[in-house]
Amino acid sequence: MTLSIRTKKTETPKKRPPDSELSFGKYFTDHMLSVDWSVEQAWHDARLQPYEALALDPAACVLHYGQAMFEGLKAYRQPNGGVALFRPDAHARRMQQGAARLCMPALEEADFVALVREFVKLEDSWIPSSPGTALYLRPTIIATEAFLGVRPSNHYLFFVIASPVGSYYGGDSLKPVRIWVERDHVRAARGGLGATKAGANYAASLLAAVNAKKAGYDQVLWMDAKEHAFVEEVGTMNLFVVIGDKLITPALSDSILSGVTRDSIIKLAPEFGVQVEERAISTAELFEASEKGTLREVFGSGTAAVVSPVAELAFGDRKLEIGGGKPGELALGLYDRISKIQRGLGPDTFGWLSPV
Ligand code: COI
Repeated sequence: MTLSIRTKKTETPKKRPPDSELSFGKYFTDHMLSVDWSVEQAWHDARLQPYEALALDPAACVLHYGQAMFEGLKAYRQPNGGVALFRPDAHARRMQQGAARLCMPALEEADFVALVREFVKLEDSWIPSSPGTALYLRPTIIATEAFLGVRPSNHYLFFVIASPVGSYYGGDSLKPVRIWVERDHVRAARGGLGATKAGANYAASLLAAVNAKKAGYDQVLWMDAKEHAFVEEVGTMNLFVVIGDKLITPALSDSILSGVTRDSIIKLAPEFGVQVEERAISTAELFEASEKGTLREVFGSGTAAVVSPVAELAFGDRKLEIGGGKPGELALGLYDRISKIQRGLGPDTFGWLSPV
């Protein structure tokens, strides 16, 4: 690591909640990792410090122009009591790509991984061990310069907080979710920020998500911004459909996030005897497959949700029911395979686990 790191431990440690009480993103650990960036000094002053509120100038660029982005990765307790991160290098690279689009600096991959590793070591006692749990890490970069003109900031803060988590939707993580297909609002257009984890993408998603919740749905499925004919991404997940013996997912573009779990699924799918296609999927194709009886499964994937089966897609009054409300065989198989790799219980064929 090219950065030296100083540590100040908390004097008021919190009590860790029992694994049975964990949902998603509700509890935070005792410490955080912070690193400053300035034009003059680049990345400097890496520190592990007590978890605390940020002091920001009210003119800080992030508060006005939204120059902010985040990552999400997980650390898992291993059978020998150790800890491993799942694909931290892939998260570091995705953060670099997103930062470039947002005119922000990003850490070198090796520094990102080494700093996150030090942080996880410090928070070892917070890492849950029950099946379905993990320590979720949230690296974030924000523009901190106090300045009211629209241009990239000259100062940034990179910080990482950590949250012991259970299932993203609460309860059984394999309980199929019901999804509202959004045809009015748009998450991301070609040429926009959709491929980045910019906070702005999530802000753009909220109104449709609130409306979907009111109508009794768990998540929103976004359509392409131009024709509203092709499915792109689910609220916080990439989308997969199984038609016949093919596993199909929308091809990556600048309006679709390049999910690390998405990539893992594509690499593991051949083990399940399915052929993977990365291409456009129209709603017309989904309806046609459903009518022919070949639409076998729909599921989402993401770091937070892992693999999440879908029971229903609602296109207004027109509903597509999938799998009779039960999780599909491939979704279950992939969830089990990925979870076992993450927990050190299955062959890590691609070398995705990074011991802490
Ligand atoms: C993740 O899956 O890590 C995400 O970032 C989704 C989220 C916004 C909770």
